[in-house]
Amino acid sequence: MIKIESLNRTFQTGDTQFHVLKDITLSVEAGECVVLQGVSGSGKTTLLSIMAGLDRPSSGKVIVDGEAIAKLPDMHISAFRAKKIGMIFQHFNLMEHLSAAENVMIPLIPMGLTLDEVQKMTAKALALANISHKAAQSTARLSGGEKQRVAIARALVADPAVILCDEPTANLDRANSLKFIEIMAQLHALGKTIVIATHDPLFEGLDFAHRIVPMEDGCLVSHD
Ligand SMILES: Nc1ncnc2c1ncn2[C@@H]1O[C@H](COP(=O)(O)OP(=O)(O)OP(=O)(O)O)[C@@H](O)[C@H]1O
Ligand SMILES: [Mg+2]
Repeated sequence: MIKIESLNRTFQTGDTQFHVLKDITLSVEAGECVVLQGVSGSGKTTLLSIMAGLDRPSSGKVIVDGEAIAKLPDMHISAFRAKKIGMIFQHFNLMEHLSAAENVMIPLIPMGLTLDEVQKMTAKALALANISHKAAQSTARLSGGEKQRVAIARALVADPAVILCDEPTANLDRANSLKFIEIMAQLHALGKTIVIATHDPLFEGLDFAHRIVPMEDGCLVSHD
């Protein structure tokens, strides 16, 4: 589902070049759940951004669901991301002045669906993320755990094959982190391909996580 080959990402700041991702090769099979682990600055967010087509590699190949996304024009990448990728972030990235349901609908807006379809898909995603009971509530008045569940629903609403999570539990307490993990287990059971970047020890030893891939200073330390 995700195939990365000899990927490098460098950033140029003035005269200095930062080599942030170094010759990364990684395959994630359809339906697999992979945990990317590494200290702050090891390159996890940069790698996830490239998988999502939000950032581009300096060299190397990135193939997601058969599409070589590194060279796709921006317009096509946005359409590709909307259909194929759901993203979940550390800071939830919700529109606080909108209700939970309105936030979940946002990815559907460019798709030209009927109102009925939008409402059905939104209701389904809210139910999957276990947050239907707060659908009408303003996001600003939700707890952290509830906000993250709205963000999960938003990531799921277009039924993407791939879910990418960047430090999803960094702002959650233990109880809400465990709820988050429970929902990930359900998504895994539904056949989603999941990549989670985290340093949360709760993600070690999950029975549905096929692999922990350690990252260190822009390199993958070992993987299959
Ligand atoms: N636009 C940029 N320009 C220059 N350097 C960058 C840029 N973006 C990221 N970096 C550098 O790349 C390295 C990896 O950053 P990244 O955010 O991918 O790490 P991370 O593993 O996600 O860290 P954290 O756990 O703190 O989120 C860092 O040293 C960072 O300073
Ligand atoms: Mg990060």
